[in-house]
Amino acid sequence: MCGITAYCGNGFALPFLMQGLSKLEYRGYDSAGVTTIEKGALQTVKCKGRLKNLEDKLQDYKLEGHVGIGHTRWATHGIPSNLNSHPHSNDDETISLVHNGIIENYRELKDELIAKGYHFQSETDSEVVVQLLDYYYDGDLFEATKKVLKKIEGSYALCIVSVFEPEKIIVAKKDSPLIIGKADGAYVAASDIPALLAYTKDVYFLDDLEMAILQKDKIHFYTHDGKEINKELVTIPYDLEAAQKDGYDTFMLKEIYEQPHVIQETLRGRIADQKIILDELQGIDFHQYNRVYFVACGTAYHASLCGSQVLERSTKIPVIATVASEFRYSDPLIDEHTLAIFVSQSGETADTLAALRLAKEHHATTIAIANVLGSTISRDADYVLYTCAGPEIAVASTKAYTTQLVLLILLAYYVAQQLGKDVDFKTIQQLNQIPQYVENILNDHQLFEQYAKMLETLHDAYFIGRGLDYASVLEGALKLKEVSYVHADAYVAGELKHGPIALIEEGSVVIAVATQPHIAAKTISNIQETIARGARVILITTHGEEVKNVENTYYLPDVTPTLQAILVAIPLQLLAYYTACIKGCDVDKPRNLAKSVTVE
Ligand code: F6R
Repeated sequence: MCGITAYCGNGFALPFLMQGLSKLEYRGYDSAGVTTIEKGALQTVKCKGRLKNLEDKLQDYKLEGHVGIGHTRWATHGIPSNLNSHPHSNDDETISLVHNGIIENYRELKDELIAKGYHFQSETDSEVVVQLLDYYYDGDLFEATKKVLKKIEGSYALCIVSVFEPEKIIVAKKDSPLIIGKADGAYVAASDIPALLAYTKDVYFLDDLEMAILQKDKIHFYTHDGKEINKELVTIPYDLEAAQKDGYDTFMLKEIYEQPHVIQETLRGRIADQKIILDELQGIDFHQYNRVYFVACGTAYHASLCGSQVLERSTKIPVIATVASEFRYSDPLIDEHTLAIFVSQSGETADTLAALRLAKEHHATTIAIANVLGSTISRDADYVLYTCAGPEIAVASTKAYTTQLVLLILLAYYVAQQLGKDVDFKTIQQLNQIPQYVENILNDHQLFEQYAKMLETLHDAYFIGRGLDYASVLEGALKLKEVSYVHADAYVAGELKHGPIALIEEGSVVIAVATQPHIAAKTISNIQETIARGARVILITTHGEEVKNVENTYYLPDVTPTLQAILVAIPLQLLAYYTACIKGCDVDKPRNLAKSVTVE
Protein backbone atom coordinates (compact mmCIF):
# COMPACT_ATOMS: atom_id res chain seq x y z
CA MET A 1 0.00 0.00 0.00
CA CYS A 2 1.06 3.64 -0.05
CA GLY A 3 4.53 4.53 1.21
CA ILE A 4 5.51 7.76 2.89
CA THR A 5 8.86 9.44 3.46
CA ALA A 6 9.65 12.77 5.12
CA TYR A 7 12.86 14.66 5.86
CA CYS A 8 13.57 17.72 7.97
CA GLY A 9 17.24 18.45 8.52
CA ASN A 10 20.53 20.05 7.60
CA GLY A 11 21.01 18.07 4.38
CA PHE A 12 18.97 18.11 1.18
CA ALA A 13 15.65 16.35 1.59
CA LEU A 14 15.44 14.75 -1.86
CA PRO A 15 18.11 12.02 -1.49
CA PHE A 16 16.45 10.74 1.68
CA LEU A 17 12.97 10.93 0.18
CA MET A 18 13.93 9.01 -2.97
CA GLN A 19 16.05 6.30 -1.32
CA GLY A 20 13.25 5.84 1.20
CA LEU A 21 10.62 5.51 -1.51
CA SER A 22 12.76 2.93 -3.28
CA LYS A 23 12.92 0.92 -0.04
CA LEU A 24 9.13 1.12 0.17
CA GLU A 25 8.54 -0.02 -3.42
CA TYR A 26 7.85 -3.53 -2.16
CA ARG A 27 4.62 -2.27 -0.58
CA GLY A 28 3.12 -1.96 -4.05
CA TYR A 29 2.36 1.34 -5.81
CA ASP A 30 1.29 2.87 -9.08
CA SER A 31 2.53 6.48 -8.85
CA ALA A 32 5.02 8.54 -6.91
CA GLY A 33 5.83 12.12 -5.97
CA VAL A 34 7.79 14.49 -3.76
CA THR A 35 7.45 18.03 -2.42
CA THR A 36 10.23 20.12 -0.96
CA ILE A 37 10.13 23.65 0.40
CA GLU A 38 12.53 26.06 -1.23
CA LYS A 39 12.84 29.80 -1.03
CA GLY A 40 9.41 30.10 0.49
CA ALA A 41 7.66 27.99 -2.14
CA LEU A 42 6.52 24.42 -2.51
CA GLN A 43 8.19 22.43 -5.28
CA THR A 44 6.15 19.39 -6.21
CA VAL A 45 7.09 16.77 -8.78
CA LYS A 46 4.85 13.73 -9.21
CA CYS A 47 3.76 11.27 -11.85
CA LYS A 48 2.02 8.02 -12.60
CA GLY A 49 4.06 4.83 -12.82
CA ARG A 50 7.27 3.54 -11.34
CA LEU A 51 9.81 5.53 -9.33
CA LYS A 52 12.01 5.52 -12.42
CA ASN A 53 9.46 7.81 -14.11
CA LEU A 54 9.69 10.19 -11.17
CA GLU A 55 13.49 10.07 -11.26
CA ASP A 56 13.42 10.90 -14.98
CA LYS A 57 11.02 13.76 -14.39
CA LEU A 58 13.17 15.10 -11.56
CA GLN A 59 16.04 15.58 -14.04
CA ASP A 60 14.24 18.73 -15.21
CA TYR A 61 14.02 20.19 -11.69
CA LYS A 62 16.48 21.17 -9.04
CA LEU A 63 14.97 20.30 -5.68
CA GLU A 64 17.35 21.52 -3.02
CA GLY A 65 15.06 22.07 -0.05
CA HIS A 66 15.99 20.83 3.41
CA VAL A 67 12.41 19.93 4.29
CA GLY A 68 10.36 17.58 2.15
CA ILE A 69 7.83 14.78 1.87
CA GLY A 70 7.55 11.83 -0.54
CA HIS A 71 4.94 9.27 -1.46
CA THR A 72 4.27 6.13 -3.44
CA ARG A 73 0.54 5.70 -4.10
CA TRP A 74 -1.48 2.48 -4.35
CA ALA A 75 -4.73 3.64 -5.89
CA THR A 76 -7.94 3.34 -3.85
CA HIS A 77 -9.98 6.43 -4.74
CA GLY A 78 -9.32 7.48 -8.32
CA ILE A 79 -7.27 5.82 -11.06
CA PRO A 80 -3.47 5.96 -11.10
CA SER A 81 -2.74 9.32 -12.77
CA ASN A 82 -0.46 12.34 -12.41
CA LEU A 83 -3.24 14.36 -10.79
CA ASN A 84 -4.22 11.68 -8.31
CA SER A 85 -0.59 11.17 -7.25
CA HIS A 86 0.60 12.64 -3.97
CA PRO A 87 1.71 15.08 -2.60
CA HIS A 88 -1.49 17.10 -2.74
CA SER A 89 -1.50 20.87 -2.24
CA ASN A 90 -4.11 23.52 -1.58
CA ASP A 91 -5.04 25.93 -4.40
CA ASP A 92 -2.52 28.63 -3.59
CA GLU A 93 0.20 26.01 -3.03
CA THR A 94 1.05 26.96 0.52
CA ILE A 95 0.31 23.62 2.21
CA SER A 96 1.20 20.15 0.91
CA LEU A 97 0.74 16.67 2.30
CA VAL A 98 1.12 12.96 1.73
CA HIS A 99 -1.41 10.49 3.09
CA ASN A 100 -1.59 6.74 3.53
CA GLY A 101 -4.97 5.28 4.50
CA ILE A 102 -8.56 6.04 3.61
CA ILE A 103 -10.65 9.05 4.64
CA GLU A 104 -14.01 7.35 4.94
CA ASN A 105 -16.13 10.50 5.20
CA TYR A 106 -14.31 12.30 2.37
CA ARG A 107 -17.45 12.55 0.21
CA GLU A 108 -19.39 14.64 2.69
CA LEU A 109 -16.33 16.73 3.61
CA LYS A 110 -15.69 17.36 -0.08
CA ASP A 111 -19.28 18.47 -0.61
CA GLU A 112 -19.01 20.85 2.35
CA LEU A 113 -15.79 22.32 0.99
CA ILE A 114 -17.17 22.67 -2.53
CA ALA A 115 -20.15 24.53 -1.04
CA LYS A 116 -17.61 26.88 0.57
CA GLY A 117 -16.04 27.54 -2.83
CA TYR A 118 -13.15 25.05 -2.83
CA HIS A 119 -12.01 23.39 -6.07
CA PHE A 120 -10.61 19.90 -6.26
CA GLN A 121 -8.05 18.73 -8.77
CA SER A 122 -7.98 15.03 -8.00
CA GLU A 123 -10.46 12.23 -7.37
CA THR A 124 -8.67 11.21 -4.18
CA ASP A 125 -9.97 11.16 -0.64
CA SER A 126 -6.59 12.58 0.49
CA GLU A 127 -7.05 15.95 -1.20
CA VAL A 128 -9.90 16.69 1.19
CA VAL A 129 -7.37 16.79 4.04
CA VAL A 130 -5.22 19.48 2.47
CA GLN A 131 -8.23 21.58 1.52
CA LEU A 132 -9.52 21.28 5.09
CA LEU A 133 -6.12 22.40 6.37
CA ASP A 134 -6.39 25.40 4.12
CA TYR A 135 -9.83 26.11 5.52
CA TYR A 136 -8.75 25.87 9.15
CA TYR A 137 -5.33 27.48 8.80
CA ASP A 138 -5.20 30.62 10.87
CA GLY A 139 -1.49 31.20 11.44
CA ASP A 140 -0.73 27.90 13.20
CA LEU A 141 -0.35 24.67 11.19
CA PHE A 142 -0.40 22.44 14.28
CA GLU A 143 -3.71 23.96 15.46
CA ALA A 144 -5.18 23.58 11.98
CA THR A 145 -4.07 19.93 11.88
CA LYS A 146 -5.74 19.25 15.25
CA LYS A 147 -9.01 20.66 13.89
CA VAL A 148 -8.74 18.58 10.71
CA LEU A 149 -8.09 15.38 12.66
CA LYS A 150 -11.33 15.99 14.55
CA LYS A 151 -13.23 16.16 11.25
CA ILE A 152 -11.80 13.19 9.36
CA GLU A 153 -12.87 9.58 9.85
CA GLY A 154 -10.96 6.54 8.69
CA SER A 155 -7.26 5.74 8.66
CA TYR A 156 -4.29 7.96 8.08
CA ALA A 157 -0.58 8.45 8.25
CA LEU A 158 -0.09 12.09 7.32
CA CYS A 159 2.99 14.26 6.74
CA ILE A 160 2.22 17.94 6.25
CA VAL A 161 4.47 20.83 5.21
CA SER A 162 3.71 24.49 4.67
CA VAL A 163 5.55 27.52 3.33
CA PHE A 164 4.19 29.44 6.32
CA GLU A 165 6.23 27.27 8.71
CA PRO A 166 9.00 26.05 6.41
CA GLU A 167 11.21 24.51 9.10
CA LYS A 168 8.64 21.94 10.24
CA ILE A 169 6.86 18.78 9.28
CA ILE A 170 3.68 17.85 11.13
CA VAL A 171 2.86 14.16 11.21
CA ALA A 172 -0.17 12.27 12.51
CA LYS A 173 -1.22 8.63 12.59
CA LYS A 174 -4.29 6.46 12.95
CA ASP A 175 -4.45 2.84 11.74
CA SER A 176 -1.66 3.33 9.18
CA PRO A 177 2.01 2.91 10.07
CA LEU A 178 4.39 5.83 10.57
CA ILE A 179 7.83 5.57 12.09
CA ILE A 180 10.07 8.51 12.94
CA GLY A 181 13.86 8.28 12.86
CA LYS A 182 16.41 10.39 14.72
CA ALA A 183 19.23 10.79 12.22
CA ASP A 184 22.40 12.84 12.18
CA GLY A 185 21.24 16.45 11.92
CA ALA A 186 17.74 15.50 10.85
CA TYR A 187 14.46 13.96 11.86
CA VAL A 188 13.00 11.66 9.24
CA ALA A 189 9.81 9.63 8.92
CA ALA A 190 8.59 6.72 6.82
CA SER A 191 5.95 4.01 6.59
CA ASP A 192 8.40 1.23 7.32
CA ILE A 193 11.79 0.69 8.90
CA PRO A 194 13.83 -0.20 5.75
CA ALA A 195 13.25 3.33 4.41
CA LEU A 196 15.05 4.76 7.46
CA LEU A 197 17.94 2.36 7.87
CA ALA A 198 20.42 4.12 5.58
CA TYR A 199 20.12 7.15 7.86
CA THR A 200 19.42 5.75 11.31
CA LYS A 201 18.49 2.75 13.44
CA ASP A 202 17.06 4.93 16.25
CA VAL A 203 13.32 5.29 15.89
CA TYR A 204 10.11 6.35 17.59
CA PHE A 205 6.94 4.38 16.87
CA LEU A 206 4.05 6.77 16.61
CA ASP A 207 0.89 5.30 18.15
CA ASP A 208 -2.64 5.77 16.88
CA LEU A 209 -4.09 9.21 17.48
CA GLU A 210 -0.68 10.69 18.10
CA MET A 211 1.03 13.57 16.33
CA ALA A 212 4.56 14.95 16.16
CA ILE A 213 6.25 18.13 15.04
CA LEU A 214 9.59 17.39 13.38
CA GLN A 215 12.29 20.04 13.14
CA LYS A 216 15.91 19.53 12.14
CA ASP A 217 17.19 19.48 15.73
CA LYS A 218 14.14 18.70 17.85
CA ILE A 219 10.96 16.75 17.97
CA HIS A 220 7.80 17.06 20.05
CA PHE A 221 5.08 14.44 20.40
CA TYR A 222 1.41 15.09 21.15
CA THR A 223 -1.89 13.33 21.50
CA HIS A 224 -4.31 14.22 18.71
CA ASP A 225 -5.93 16.83 20.93
CA GLY A 226 -2.62 18.57 21.57
CA LYS A 227 -1.36 17.28 24.94
CA GLU A 228 2.44 16.91 24.84
CA ILE A 229 3.73 13.38 25.54
CA ASN A 230 7.08 11.58 25.76
CA LYS A 231 8.00 8.70 23.48
CA GLU A 232 10.70 6.08 23.88
CA LEU A 233 13.56 5.96 21.38
CA VAL A 234 14.01 2.35 20.20
CA THR A 235 17.06 0.94 18.38
CA ILE A 236 16.26 -1.40 15.48
CA PRO A 237 18.13 -4.69 15.93
CA TYR A 238 19.18 -5.10 12.25
CA ASP A 239 20.84 -2.92 9.67
CA LEU A 240 20.49 -1.84 6.07
CA GLU A 241 22.18 -4.98 4.77
CA ALA A 242 19.29 -7.08 6.06
CA ALA A 243 16.98 -5.02 3.85
CA GLN A 244 19.10 -5.31 0.68
CA LYS A 245 19.35 -7.98 -2.00
CA ASP A 246 22.84 -9.02 -1.04
CA GLY A 247 23.87 -10.40 -4.44
CA TYR A 248 20.64 -12.32 -5.05
CA ASP A 249 18.65 -11.57 -8.22
CA THR A 250 15.49 -10.92 -6.25
CA PHE A 251 14.39 -10.33 -2.68
CA MET A 252 12.16 -13.39 -2.89
CA LEU A 253 15.12 -15.69 -3.61
CA LYS A 254 17.21 -14.02 -0.92
CA GLU A 255 14.41 -14.45 1.59
CA ILE A 256 13.88 -18.11 0.63
CA TYR A 257 17.59 -18.71 1.25
CA GLU A 258 17.53 -16.85 4.56
CA GLN A 259 15.15 -19.40 6.03
CA PRO A 260 17.70 -21.65 7.77
CA HIS A 261 19.08 -18.60 9.57
CA VAL A 262 15.80 -16.91 10.49
CA ILE A 263 14.24 -20.16 11.68
CA GLN A 264 17.27 -20.54 13.94
CA GLU A 265 16.76 -16.98 15.16
CA THR A 266 13.07 -17.62 15.86
CA LEU A 267 13.99 -20.70 17.89
CA ARG A 268 16.81 -19.00 19.76
CA GLY A 269 16.33 -19.10 23.52
CA ARG A 270 12.88 -20.63 23.24
CA ILE A 271 13.76 -24.28 23.95
CA ALA A 272 15.77 -25.45 26.98
CA ASP A 273 15.83 -28.86 28.64
CA GLN A 274 12.96 -30.05 26.46
CA LYS A 275 10.85 -27.16 27.70
CA ILE A 276 9.42 -24.35 25.65
CA ILE A 277 10.23 -20.92 27.02
CA LEU A 278 7.96 -18.09 25.97
CA ASP A 279 8.59 -15.51 28.65
CA GLU A 280 6.52 -12.99 26.72
CA LEU A 281 3.40 -14.96 27.75
CA GLN A 282 4.18 -15.04 31.46
CA GLY A 283 1.13 -14.42 33.57
CA ILE A 284 -1.40 -16.12 31.29
CA ASP A 285 -3.33 -18.93 32.96
CA PHE A 286 -4.35 -21.06 29.99
CA HIS A 287 -6.83 -23.07 32.09
CA GLN A 288 -9.31 -20.20 31.76
CA TYR A 289 -9.90 -20.69 28.03
CA ASN A 290 -12.56 -22.90 26.49
CA ARG A 291 -12.09 -21.68 22.91
CA VAL A 292 -9.19 -20.46 20.79
CA TYR A 293 -9.36 -18.44 17.59
CA PHE A 294 -6.56 -17.97 15.09
CA VAL A 295 -7.23 -14.96 12.91
CA ALA A 296 -5.14 -13.82 9.93
CA CYS A 297 -5.12 -13.15 6.19
CA GLY A 298 -3.45 -14.85 3.21
CA THR A 299 -0.23 -16.66 3.96
CA ALA A 300 -0.51 -15.85 7.65
CA TYR A 301 -3.92 -17.55 7.58
CA HIS A 302 -2.34 -20.67 6.10
CA ALA A 303 0.21 -20.68 8.91
CA SER A 304 -2.71 -20.28 11.32
CA LEU A 305 -4.54 -23.25 9.81
CA CYS A 306 -1.52 -25.32 10.59
CA GLY A 307 -0.99 -23.82 14.05
CA SER A 308 -4.63 -24.34 14.93
CA GLN A 309 -4.44 -28.07 14.20
CA VAL A 310 -1.30 -28.50 16.27
CA LEU A 311 -2.74 -26.50 19.18
CA GLU A 312 -6.04 -28.34 19.18
CA ARG A 313 -4.34 -31.72 19.03
CA SER A 314 -1.91 -30.96 21.82
CA THR A 315 -4.25 -29.11 24.20
CA LYS A 316 -7.68 -30.58 23.35
CA ILE A 317 -9.15 -27.08 23.49
CA PRO A 318 -11.48 -26.40 20.53
CA VAL A 319 -9.68 -24.17 18.04
CA ILE A 320 -11.02 -22.30 15.03
CA ALA A 321 -8.82 -20.71 12.38
CA THR A 322 -10.54 -18.04 10.36
CA VAL A 323 -9.67 -15.32 7.87
CA ALA A 324 -9.81 -11.88 9.44
CA SER A 325 -12.14 -10.32 6.86
CA GLU A 326 -14.73 -13.01 7.70
CA PHE A 327 -14.14 -13.10 11.43
CA ARG A 328 -14.84 -9.43 11.95
CA TYR A 329 -18.28 -9.63 10.30
CA SER A 330 -19.35 -13.05 11.55
CA ASP A 331 -20.45 -12.11 15.05
CA PRO A 332 -17.95 -14.61 16.51
CA LEU A 333 -18.49 -16.16 19.92
CA ILE A 334 -16.00 -14.31 22.09
CA ASP A 335 -15.91 -13.78 25.84
CA GLU A 336 -13.37 -13.67 28.64
CA HIS A 337 -12.80 -17.42 28.21
CA THR A 338 -11.60 -16.93 24.64
CA LEU A 339 -7.97 -16.83 23.59
CA ALA A 340 -7.55 -15.08 20.25
CA ILE A 341 -4.27 -15.30 18.32
CA PHE A 342 -3.61 -12.83 15.50
CA VAL A 343 -0.91 -13.71 13.00
CA SER A 344 0.52 -10.98 10.81
CA GLN A 345 3.94 -10.48 9.28
CA SER A 346 3.53 -6.73 8.85
CA GLY A 347 1.45 -6.24 11.97
CA GLU A 348 -0.53 -3.62 10.02
CA THR A 349 -3.09 -5.61 8.02
CA ALA A 350 -6.36 -3.68 8.30
CA ASP A 351 -8.69 -6.70 8.60
CA THR A 352 -6.51 -8.46 11.15
CA LEU A 353 -6.22 -5.28 13.18
CA ALA A 354 -9.99 -4.74 13.14
CA ALA A 355 -10.53 -8.36 14.19
CA LEU A 356 -8.08 -7.89 17.06
CA ARG A 357 -9.95 -4.83 18.27
CA LEU A 358 -13.23 -6.70 18.07
CA ALA A 359 -11.82 -9.55 20.17
CA LYS A 360 -10.55 -7.06 22.76
CA GLU A 361 -13.92 -5.33 22.95
CA HIS A 362 -15.43 -8.72 23.85
CA HIS A 363 -12.81 -9.35 26.56
CA ALA A 364 -10.79 -12.10 24.87
CA THR A 365 -7.13 -12.45 25.75
CA THR A 366 -5.20 -11.52 22.62
CA ILE A 367 -1.78 -12.67 21.42
CA ALA A 368 -0.10 -11.24 18.32
CA ILE A 369 2.37 -13.26 16.27
CA ALA A 370 4.09 -10.51 14.31
CA ASN A 371 7.34 -9.91 12.50
CA VAL A 372 7.59 -6.13 12.35
CA LEU A 373 8.79 -4.66 15.60
CA GLY A 374 6.52 -1.96 17.00
CA SER A 375 3.77 -2.58 14.43
CA THR A 376 0.21 -1.66 15.37
CA ILE A 377 -1.04 -5.24 15.86
CA SER A 378 1.97 -6.11 17.99
CA ARG A 379 1.33 -3.12 20.22
CA ASP A 380 -2.44 -3.43 20.42
CA ALA A 381 -2.49 -7.10 21.46
CA ASP A 382 -2.27 -8.03 25.14
CA TYR A 383 0.79 -10.16 24.42
CA VAL A 384 3.17 -10.36 21.47
CA LEU A 385 5.51 -13.03 20.17
CA TYR A 386 7.88 -11.91 17.44
CA THR A 387 9.07 -14.07 14.59
CA CYS A 388 12.67 -13.16 13.87
CA ALA A 389 12.46 -13.19 10.08
CA GLY A 390 14.02 -9.73 9.64
CA PRO A 391 12.59 -7.40 7.00
CA GLU A 392 10.57 -9.27 4.38
CA ILE A 393 10.66 -7.14 1.25
CA ALA A 394 9.34 -9.43 -1.52
CA VAL A 395 5.58 -9.12 -1.69
CA ALA A 396 5.17 -12.90 -1.62
CA SER A 397 5.76 -14.09 1.89
CA THR A 398 8.29 -16.90 2.37
CA LYS A 399 10.50 -16.61 5.43
CA ALA A 400 7.74 -14.93 7.42
CA TYR A 401 5.55 -18.00 6.76
CA THR A 402 8.05 -20.62 7.91
CA THR A 403 9.00 -18.61 10.99
CA GLN A 404 5.30 -18.20 11.81
CA LEU A 405 4.96 -22.00 11.57
CA VAL A 406 7.90 -22.47 13.91
CA LEU A 407 6.51 -20.02 16.44
CA LEU A 408 2.98 -21.42 16.23
CA ILE A 409 4.28 -24.94 16.86
CA LEU A 410 6.25 -23.62 19.85
CA LEU A 411 3.15 -21.83 21.07
CA ALA A 412 0.98 -24.94 20.77
CA TYR A 413 3.41 -27.02 22.81
CA TYR A 414 3.92 -24.19 25.28
CA VAL A 415 0.19 -24.02 25.97
CA ALA A 416 0.07 -27.83 26.32
CA GLN A 417 3.02 -27.66 28.70
CA GLN A 418 1.35 -24.96 30.82
CA LEU A 419 -1.83 -27.05 30.96
CA GLY A 420 0.15 -30.06 32.19
CA LYS A 421 -0.59 -32.11 29.05
CA ASP A 422 1.78 -34.62 27.47
CA VAL A 423 4.05 -32.78 25.07
CA ASP A 424 5.54 -34.25 21.91
CA PHE A 425 9.23 -34.15 22.94
CA LYS A 426 10.45 -35.68 19.70
CA THR A 427 9.05 -32.74 17.76
CA ILE A 428 10.55 -30.26 20.20
CA GLN A 429 13.96 -31.93 19.90
CA GLN A 430 13.82 -32.04 16.13
CA LEU A 431 12.88 -28.36 15.85
CA ASN A 432 16.55 -27.53 16.36
CA GLN A 433 17.47 -29.60 13.30
CA ILE A 434 14.99 -27.84 11.01
CA PRO A 435 17.45 -25.14 9.83
CA GLN A 436 19.86 -27.82 8.59
CA TYR A 437 17.07 -29.75 6.83
CA VAL A 438 15.86 -26.57 5.16
CA GLU A 439 19.42 -25.99 3.96
CA ASN A 440 19.51 -29.50 2.49
CA ILE A 441 16.27 -28.94 0.60
CA LEU A 442 17.56 -25.64 -0.76
CA ASN A 443 20.55 -27.55 -2.13
CA ASP A 444 18.12 -29.47 -4.34
CA HIS A 445 16.95 -26.24 -5.99
CA GLN A 446 17.79 -27.42 -9.53
CA LEU A 447 15.20 -30.13 -9.27
CA PHE A 448 12.46 -27.60 -8.55
CA GLU A 449 13.69 -25.46 -11.42
CA GLN A 450 13.12 -28.51 -13.62
CA TYR A 451 9.65 -29.15 -12.19
CA ALA A 452 8.82 -25.49 -12.85
CA LYS A 453 9.25 -26.09 -16.60
CA MET A 454 6.15 -28.32 -16.44
CA LEU A 455 4.12 -25.26 -15.44
CA GLU A 456 5.55 -22.73 -17.88
CA THR A 457 2.81 -22.95 -20.50
CA LEU A 458 -0.09 -23.95 -18.27
CA HIS A 459 -3.03 -21.81 -17.26
CA ASP A 460 -4.03 -23.95 -14.30
CA ALA A 461 -2.44 -26.15 -11.66
CA TYR A 462 -4.07 -28.30 -9.00
CA PHE A 463 -2.70 -28.73 -5.50
CA ILE A 464 -3.95 -31.51 -3.23
CA GLY A 465 -3.30 -32.59 0.35
CA ARG A 466 -5.05 -33.66 3.56
CA GLY A 467 -4.82 -32.48 7.17
CA LEU A 468 -1.72 -30.36 7.75
CA ASP A 469 -0.81 -30.96 4.11
CA TYR A 470 -3.97 -29.14 3.09
CA ALA A 471 -2.71 -25.98 4.80
CA SER A 472 0.60 -26.48 2.96
CA VAL A 473 -1.00 -26.84 -0.46
CA LEU A 474 -3.19 -23.80 0.11
CA GLU A 475 0.02 -21.87 0.67
CA GLY A 476 1.76 -23.55 -2.29
CA ALA A 477 -1.12 -22.61 -4.60
CA LEU A 478 -1.19 -19.03 -3.32
CA LYS A 479 2.54 -18.68 -3.88
CA LEU A 480 2.30 -20.02 -7.43
CA LYS A 481 -0.59 -17.82 -8.48
CA GLU A 482 0.70 -14.60 -6.95
CA VAL A 483 4.18 -14.68 -8.45
CA SER A 484 3.72 -16.62 -11.72
CA TYR A 485 0.05 -15.82 -12.50
CA VAL A 486 -0.64 -19.52 -13.12
CA HIS A 487 -4.15 -20.09 -11.82
CA ALA A 488 -3.74 -22.56 -8.98
CA ASP A 489 -6.32 -24.06 -6.69
CA ALA A 490 -5.78 -26.19 -3.64
CA TYR A 491 -8.16 -28.99 -2.74
CA VAL A 492 -8.56 -31.36 0.15
CA ALA A 493 -7.48 -34.53 -1.69
CA GLY A 494 -10.56 -36.41 -0.53
CA GLU A 495 -12.81 -33.79 -2.12
CA LEU A 496 -11.42 -34.25 -5.63
CA LYS A 497 -13.95 -36.81 -6.66
CA HIS A 498 -16.78 -34.61 -5.40
CA GLY A 499 -16.26 -32.18 -8.24
CA PRO A 500 -12.80 -30.85 -9.07
CA ILE A 501 -11.66 -34.07 -10.76
CA ALA A 502 -13.89 -33.04 -13.66
CA LEU A 503 -11.17 -30.52 -14.52
CA ILE A 504 -8.37 -33.08 -14.81
CA GLU A 505 -7.45 -33.97 -18.39
CA GLU A 506 -4.45 -35.13 -20.40
CA GLY A 507 -1.48 -32.91 -19.43
CA SER A 508 -3.00 -31.32 -16.29
CA VAL A 509 -0.40 -30.83 -13.58
CA VAL A 510 -1.24 -31.94 -10.05
CA ILE A 511 1.05 -30.98 -7.18
CA ALA A 512 0.38 -33.31 -4.29
CA VAL A 513 1.68 -33.25 -0.73
CA ALA A 514 1.53 -36.41 1.37
CA THR A 515 3.61 -36.09 4.52
CA GLN A 516 1.16 -37.16 7.22
CA PRO A 517 1.56 -40.92 7.71
CA HIS A 518 -2.00 -41.57 8.91
CA ILE A 519 -3.49 -40.17 5.68
CA ALA A 520 -0.64 -40.23 3.15
CA ALA A 521 -1.83 -43.49 1.57
CA LYS A 522 -5.26 -41.93 1.02
CA THR A 523 -3.75 -38.92 -0.76
CA ILE A 524 -1.58 -41.23 -2.86
CA SER A 525 -4.74 -43.11 -3.96
CA ASN A 526 -6.27 -39.76 -4.95
CA ILE A 527 -3.14 -39.07 -6.98
CA GLN A 528 -3.63 -42.33 -8.86
CA GLU A 529 -7.15 -41.21 -9.75
CA THR A 530 -5.73 -38.08 -11.37
CA ILE A 531 -3.00 -40.04 -13.19
CA ALA A 532 -5.69 -42.34 -14.59
CA ARG A 533 -7.24 -39.23 -16.18
CA GLY A 534 -4.01 -38.01 -17.78
CA ALA A 535 -2.50 -35.82 -15.04
CA ARG A 536 1.22 -35.32 -14.63
CA VAL A 537 2.07 -35.29 -10.94
CA ILE A 538 4.69 -33.67 -8.73
CA LEU A 539 4.52 -35.41 -5.38
CA ILE A 540 6.22 -34.22 -2.22
CA THR A 541 6.20 -36.92 0.41
CA THR A 542 8.30 -38.77 2.97
CA HIS A 543 10.31 -41.96 2.69
CA GLY A 544 8.28 -45.05 3.33
CA GLU A 545 5.24 -44.07 1.30
CA GLU A 546 4.65 -46.45 -1.55
CA VAL A 547 4.28 -44.43 -4.71
CA LYS A 548 3.67 -45.92 -8.15
CA ASN A 549 3.43 -44.25 -11.59
CA VAL A 550 4.29 -40.79 -10.31
CA GLU A 551 6.56 -38.94 -12.71
CA ASN A 552 8.26 -36.72 -10.12
CA THR A 553 8.55 -37.58 -6.45
CA TYR A 554 10.53 -35.53 -3.95
CA TYR A 555 11.24 -37.09 -0.57
CA LEU A 556 11.51 -34.75 2.40
CA PRO A 557 13.96 -35.36 5.26
CA ASP A 558 12.76 -37.64 8.00
CA VAL A 559 11.21 -35.50 10.75
CA THR A 560 7.96 -35.77 12.71
CA PRO A 561 4.75 -35.17 10.74
CA THR A 562 4.12 -31.82 12.48
CA LEU A 563 7.47 -30.46 11.35
CA GLN A 564 6.91 -31.57 7.75
CA ALA A 565 4.62 -28.54 7.45
CA ILE A 566 7.71 -26.35 7.69
CA LEU A 567 9.89 -28.38 5.35
CA VAL A 568 7.31 -28.80 2.60
CA ALA A 569 7.01 -25.03 2.27
CA ILE A 570 10.50 -24.84 0.74
CA PRO A 571 9.92 -26.96 -2.42
CA LEU A 572 6.58 -25.19 -2.96
CA GLN A 573 8.21 -21.76 -2.68
CA LEU A 574 10.99 -22.76 -5.10
CA LEU A 575 8.48 -24.17 -7.56
CA ALA A 576 6.53 -20.90 -7.57
CA TYR A 577 9.70 -18.84 -7.76
CA TYR A 578 11.21 -20.67 -10.72
CA THR A 579 7.91 -20.77 -12.60
CA ALA A 580 7.68 -16.99 -12.24
CA CYS A 581 11.29 -16.57 -13.40
CA ILE A 582 10.82 -18.81 -16.43
CA LYS A 583 7.74 -16.78 -17.36
CA GLY A 584 9.64 -13.51 -16.91
CA CYS A 585 7.38 -12.21 -14.15
CA ASP A 586 8.34 -9.41 -11.76
CA VAL A 587 8.84 -11.80 -8.86
CA ASP A 588 9.29 -9.25 -6.09
CA LYS A 589 6.43 -7.00 -7.11
CA PRO A 590 3.59 -9.05 -8.58
CA ARG A 591 0.89 -7.04 -10.31
CA ASN A 592 -2.02 -5.69 -8.22
CA LEU A 593 -0.50 -6.79 -4.92
CA ALA A 594 0.72 -4.78 -1.97
CA LYS A 595 2.94 -5.98 0.84
CA SER A 596 1.17 -4.35 3.70
CA VAL A 597 -2.59 -4.33 3.19
CA THR A 598 -3.66 -1.38 5.30
CA VAL A 599 -7.08 -0.96 3.69
CA GLU A 600 -10.07 -3.23 4.15
C1 F6R B 1 1.14 -13.73 0.31
C2 F6R B 1 1.13 -12.71 1.35
C3 F6R B 1 -0.18 -12.24 1.85
C4 F6R B 1 -0.06 -11.87 3.34
C5 F6R B 1 -1.37 -11.23 3.82
C6 F6R B 1 -1.32 -10.91 5.29
O1 F6R B 1 2.43 -14.11 -0.05
O2 F6R B 1 2.15 -12.24 1.75
O3 F6R B 1 -1.17 -13.18 1.64
O4 F6R B 1 0.22 -13.01 4.07
O5 F6R B 1 -1.60 -10.06 3.09
O6 F6R B 1 -0.27 -10.05 5.59
P1 F6R B 1 0.30 -9.90 7.05
O7 F6R B 1 0.96 -11.17 7.41
O8 F6R B 1 1.27 -8.76 6.95
O9 F6R B 1 -0.87 -9.59 7.93
